[in-house]
Amino acid sequence: MNICVVGLQWGDEGKGKVVDILAEDCDIVVRYGGGSNAGHTVVIGNSRFALHLLPSGSIRHDVTCVIANAVVVDPEVLISEIDGLAEREISLEGRLVISENAHVVLDYHKREDQLREESLGERKIGTTIRGIGPCYADKVGRSYAVRVGDFRDPAALKEKLRVVLAYKNKLFGALYGAEPMDTGAIFDKCKVYAERLVPLAIDTTEFLHTSIDAGKSVLFEGAQGSLLDLDHGTFPYVTSSNSSSLGLPSGCGVPARMVNKYIGVVKAYTTRVGAGPFPTEQDNEIGNFIRDAGHEYGTTTGRPRRCGWFDAVAAAYGVKIGSIDALVLLHLDTLTGLQELKICHTYEVGGRQTTFFPANIARLAQARPVYETLPGWNDDISEVATFAQLPENARNYVRRIEKLLGKPVEMIGVGPKRSQTIVR
Ligand code: GDP
Ligand code: IMO
Ligand code: MG
Repeated sequence: MNICVVGLQWGDEGKGKVVDILAEDCDIVVRYGGGSNAGHTVVIGNSRFALHLLPSGSIRHDVTCVIANAVVVDPEVLISEIDGLAEREISLEGRLVISENAHVVLDYHKREDQLREESLGERKIGTTIRGIGPCYADKVGRSYAVRVGDFRDPAALKEKLRVVLAYKNKLFGALYGAEPMDTGAIFDKCKVYAERLVPLAIDTTEFLHTSIDAGKSVLFEGAQGSLLDLDHGTFPYVTSSNSSSLGLPSGCGVPARMVNKYIGVVKAYTTRVGAGPFPTEQDNEIGNFIRDAGHEYGTTTGRPRRCGWFDAVAAAYGVKIGSIDALVLLHLDTLTGLQELKICHTYEVGGRQTTFFPANIARLAQARPVYETLPGWNDDISEVATFAQLPENARNYVRRIEKLLGKPVEMIGVGPKRSQTIVR
């Protein structure tokens, strides 16, 4: 059984938790897109792990971890993550491989991300400043790209960096008045990265196909969320990759039809970090309640997340484009204590009602969410272990989301811990 786990909203749905749970029955976990802009949290007992590049299967000692071709790899983050886990007695020795074709995020990508965002002022995207957009831009542009496999030939890499830096320094100087960056310093760092990463670099497409042919089960871990997808999200307020499950085939070379099940993860409400339209946002005491109760602060940047009501129109779009079979609904506990809960089931756009999410932001800006109201619950549900034990209003809330999205909710989160999960 090969499974894909993907977020259906604007990221941070709780994918890390779900992947950690499902990894128990899988041999291999694959990150197929994004980079260290992702922050995936796994909580086991009193231990908390925040992973940015390593797949969330890393925590389980018997799982092989794959960083596939479409991931943009920041070696500094990756190496510190590997070492950080080793310090906590979780070794990745012999069970981590990285695509030789994955593109590398270097200092000048992060610099460009920051300079551009600063220069945009009000018009900034609100990126994580992890160099994601600039690295993917170099990938698409080809001439200045550096891939993991390039670390194998130091002389050729040095020459390439000389050309790249000459270009970037001219550009950053002219556009932003930035100080030039030193090629030698960046090359010296690359020598250290090469020592660590070259032994892990393989053809991950071959590895995945060989493993699947041999009967291994693979779990594909999406990063970001479907509404941040470069082509299908709320452009330009998106990330620079195909972060919906549509990015899986190109992201790791495994065709969509070889994946047996697509699991869509949603929160019981909606959050978003960074700029961009968010029709059900509650920039008021409701949003503050959700942020406080759900500890809604970014795993990667620490920024407060924008919070709002569950948007079934937006999540249903994720279901449709992602060929989702089943749902996981997290953070149900966060809503405890709210007397009334609202769910947006329809948008009114230009006097017309629609249930199909208008991803184009000019149209989305005109969308007025139409809500229904459901009664809330007050009982603490954080220790509830079965669906039947949930308060009736909580069960009805889950059933309503199932109905609106047309897919079964197979798991429900009642707290951050691995154990705080109801499996139906
Ligand atoms: P990801 O990027 O999709 O992996 O999600 P993040 O890790 O960025 O954010 C999800 C946050 O919610 C993390 O802090 C999790 O520990 C936490 N979390 C996950 N599931 C639940 C849940 O059911 N209830 C609560 N209260 N917290 C949860
Ligand atoms: P996980 O995997 C939430 C958002 C940023 C910004 C936009 C572009 O943890 O769910 P980028 O740095 O990618 O160029 O930023 O995308 N963003 C995320 N939001 N969760 C994420 O990842 C995100 N990765 C990027 O906040 O709005
Ligand atoms: Mg996250």
